[in-house]
Amino acid sequence: MALPEIALPAGYRWRTLTPDDQRLVTELDTWAFPTGLAHDDIDATPSPLTWERAIAIEAEGSDGLVALHASYPFGHFPVPGAELPTAGLTWVGVHPQHRRRGLLTAMINLHLARSAERGEALSALFAAEAPIYGRFGYGHAADDLRLKIPRGAALRDVPGAERHTVRVEVATREKHGELEDRLHRAAGAAPTGVPGINRPGWVTRETEELQAYWWADAPIYRDGRESRRIMIVELDGEPRGYVTFRRTLNWEAAGPRGRVHAGEVVALDAAAARALWGALLDLDLTNEVAPFVLPVDDVITHLLVNLRAAEPRTPDNVWVRLVDVAAALAGRQYAADVDVTLAVTDTRLPANAGVYRLQAEAFGPASVERVDPEFDSPELSLDVRELGAAYLGGKSLAALAAAGLVTEHPRPGQREGVLARASTAFGWPVAPASSWVF
Ligand SMILES: CC(C)(COP(=O)(O)OP(=O)(O)OC[C@H]1O[C@@H](n2cnc3c(N)ncnc32)[C@H](O)[C@@H]1OP(=O)(O)O)[C@@H](O)C(=O)NCCC(=O)NCCS
Repeated sequence: MALPEIALPAGYRWRTLTPDDQRLVTELDTWAFPTGLAHDDIDATPSPLTWERAIAIEAEGSDGLVALHASYPFGHFPVPGAELPTAGLTWVGVHPQHRRRGLLTAMINLHLARSAERGEALSALFAAEAPIYGRFGYGHAADDLRLKIPRGAALRDVPGAERHTVRVEVATREKHGELEDRLHRAAGAAPTGVPGINRPGWVTRETEELQAYWWADAPIYRDGRESRRIMIVELDGEPRGYVTFRRTLNWEAAGPRGRVHAGEVVALDAAAARALWGALLDLDLTNEVAPFVLPVDDVITHLLVNLRAAEPRTPDNVWVRLVDVAAALAGRQYAADVDVTLAVTDTRLPANAGVYRLQAEAFGPASVERVDPEFDSPELSLDVRELGAAYLGGKSLAALAAAGLVTEHPRPGQREGVLARASTAFGWPVAPASSWVF
């Protein structure tokens, strides 16, 4: 696909990439993200990139790349009650000598133009630094929960948990690839067991490159931890959940103080989750389980008798950008009947700016039309960034309004409460989260 005409600052030019450019990519990436790893070792591990979606910038008169960005083609990105094609922005970096000259801005412009050309109504990302992406219309759409759970922490009982058994193995693609994918998708499709109530943001590693990278479990990235292990919880021999984990072990004056770094925790129901967490919290020579990237409403928050003792933190998870406002609004479900007129501003993608009437039935179909504000005056006005924040159902429009970021314009004679009603409709019973960082 030829690149759309997107302006760059003077002295720079776009460059497409192929797998033969791996070393150039490593050199630029290690300028942007410093590491002590040897370039040869990095290049010897599989790359997660979808190469035709990786675009660099070169500077005239200088060798190598000065900037890079890429995206993952998520064909099935979960949004409330549905899935939408989404461009997962990733591998964003600018050489320190070339920063703050507008290269990231140009790359975002190119990324959004290419996403629109491909019919991707959304873009999503994880932010290395939280202040970077809001200016480009990305909204902070989800949080995740980080915990440090003491070994043996008391858990509430769940009937039937005791009927489960667990297996603990070294994780390999041959043995566990299909199982992980199947359970991950099933847990994302119905995390509470209610059909149709999915977990927004729960994206799977859809491409072969992402799978190869994940399963390579490259020793250089283990940071002193053991190779990836998997604990599988079963009922009558049928897998019902898994957790990937790596342990570290330190000997201190008081004895062994090991840590369990839990990766992805997936369970199909409460009893399986209770059995899995019970086994994970009971590993020998450890004193703490540190799960990475749990949804903020994960089952463990309700099973732990003393959540406070696990020192919960909630950093930002996925950020979302509506590339096509009408397609995105029509492409999700809503948690209540809604009929609301929204005035949306979008300076970066002016084609999105306008007034939209959204009509939807609770957990049913939605329709969106552009309307003439003279006849259909807006009831709420907001920027595309706030729409992105609210889009997965994890951030409330009313809370954004309380922060002055959404404005309610009650129509004369209309019953009050359009903000409250729209806020309820944009919410979702399950908190959004991705279980892995892309
Ligand atoms: C973050 C990074 C990509 C920015 O690239 P850049 O080319 O310097 O960005 P631009 O010149 O286009 O900056 C655009 C705007 O964003 C702001 N900005 C850029 N990076 C920022 C940061 N880390 N924190 C706060 N603001 C930032 C700039 O100040 C500028 O603001 P302005 O429009 O008000 O002048 C680059 O600094 C970098 O590679 N950092 C290290 C790796 C990294 O964090 N990558 C992001 C991975 S998600």
